[in-house]
Amino acid sequence: MHRLLPLGVALLALAACEGKSTAMMENSSTGSAGPRKPPLSLGAQVGQLAFFDQNLSGGRNMSCASCHDPQYAYGPPNSVSVQLGSDITQTGVRAVPSLRYRESTPAYSDDAPNPDGVTSNSPGGGFMWDGRATTLATQAGMPLLNPLEMNNASKDAVVKAVRNGTYAGLFKQAFGADVFNNTDAAFEALGTAIQALETEDLSFHPYSSKYDLHVFNKVGGTLTPAEQRGEVVFHSTGVSNCSGCHYTGANFNGNSGLMTDFTYQALGAPRNDRSIPNNPDPIPANNDPKYFDMGLCGPYRTDHMPATPDTANPYCGMFKVPGLRNVATRGAFFHNGVLHSLDQVVNFYNTRDTNPEYWYPANGNSSSDGTGTPQANPSWALQPTHVPGATVSKYNDLPTSQQGSIDEEVPMGTGEGGDKTLASGTRPRQPGSAPVMTPQQIADLVCFLGTLSDGYQPSSAAPTTGRCVK
Ligand code: HEC
Ligand code: HEC
Repeated sequence: MHRLLPLGVALLALAACEGKSTAMMENSSTGSAGPRKPPLSLGAQVGQLAFFDQNLSGGRNMSCASCHDPQYAYGPPNSVSVQLGSDITQTGVRAVPSLRYRESTPAYSDDAPNPDGVTSNSPGGGFMWDGRATTLATQAGMPLLNPLEMNNASKDAVVKAVRNGTYAGLFKQAFGADVFNNTDAAFEALGTAIQALETEDLSFHPYSSKYDLHVFNKVGGTLTPAEQRGEVVFHSTGVSNCSGCHYTGANFNGNSGLMTDFTYQALGAPRNDRSIPNNPDPIPANNDPKYFDMGLCGPYRTDHMPATPDTANPYCGMFKVPGLRNVATRGAFFHNGVLHSLDQVVNFYNTRDTNPEYWYPANGNSSSDGTGTPQANPSWALQPTHVPGATVSKYNDLPTSQQGSIDEEVPMGTGEGGDKTLASGTRPRQPGSAPVMTPQQIADLVCFLGTLSDGYQPSSAAPTTGRCVK
């Protein structure tokens, strides 16, 4: 994993990179073995210049690529939970997703069909962790105007920056000579341009991972024994159930292996705040104990807000199932970036309900109250020690009144949520019961997730060292 790097430092490195032509950056992000690219439309060419243009931020110091770095699968170039904004005294509220393989995401619906063709309809689709952006074009307007992100004062300020910039001519060629006469129309055209880039440019969907070679039986696609075992675990309904949500089959557009069914689930990720000892980067907004980021029920989307904070609402706590391609290049996981390694993520699924003290604060976490001998928690746990019998504040990033929406599907909880069935012989996962996955299965799963990274170069000799070989 990469070091924790404040974005300010990353921006310096990026500034050096932005001097070079975007074509060079693209090639280095996809690898020279990538497919030959069709030429971009005029709109997409504008989008490409805009995507890397720091003048499109209030402080002239940040572009889309500052947070969505092509070298990191269009995800963040560091492992901090939430990124600094253009106003560098401000920090965001959610982890930055990768922008790869987003083009076939359907629009959000409360009653979306599931791509597996079997599971009943449920909330699905849309952009952002809460689906509040309907298209990639409208999405692009949001970071531009968000004070915590690119921090432009108005649409007018953004349009002025484009009009005074080096690609104003190309912009007029693509969207009409009088496009700058109407601020709203020009702002919308900028979104259309960025959407065209994200849709057309193959560096946003290169399908160049080892997994792709494997699925299509191509040379170099032979998985190691560890990766093969991991793939089996990934698809084991009664054990990991990963592919139950991170769906690998064909989606509505025919593309397969995106590792998401576009649905929403409430996994109960731990609150990313100062209750985690030595937390390197708690989310500043969480300093307010009354603030909760509850995904589908707000505060950033507003159509499913609970009538009162205490009225139970099934949408609360639900976030979009993220695609897992390139997940091994990330350094912060879940919508709030609270976890920092894949080992941690898989262990979270495995022990959220058998050992909640690993993840959530407990009264009596230390021996200071004299109630017993603290036991060391594993190194991947968020909470370093616990006292047997301590009261754990489970699901602490949701108000108690909203915890009814927490997902109980395998590998978590009672194993009975949704329409997934429990493998015979497995017990409901309660505090103290055995977790469903073994350490070997977890290690194998993480190896399999590593095959989803783009830019894989099949080497002539099979690797002989490393944890994923045998
Ligand atoms: C300061 C960091 C930052 C900058 C700069 C930024 N983004 Fe993002 N981006 C984010 C975060 C954080 C999210 C998730 C926000 C949410 O869920 O509410 C996101 C989400 C997205 C998504 C949705 C992806 C998905 O999986 O649904 C797209 C598309 C996107 N950004 C494109 C852009 C574009 C285009 C720009 C430039 C105009 C941009 N971003 C600038 C941080 C940033
Ligand atoms: C019940 C549906 C469901 C199941 C089963 C499931 N996931 Fe997830 N997964 C999600 C959702 C929803 C999120 C986002 C949660 C959030 O951010 O609060 C997520 C997030 C993740 C992430 C973080 C990705 C990122 O970009 O931050 C990883 C990695 C992951 N899952 C891997 C797995 C693995 C491996 C398994 C099997 C052990 C699995 N998931 C099982 C729904 C599921």
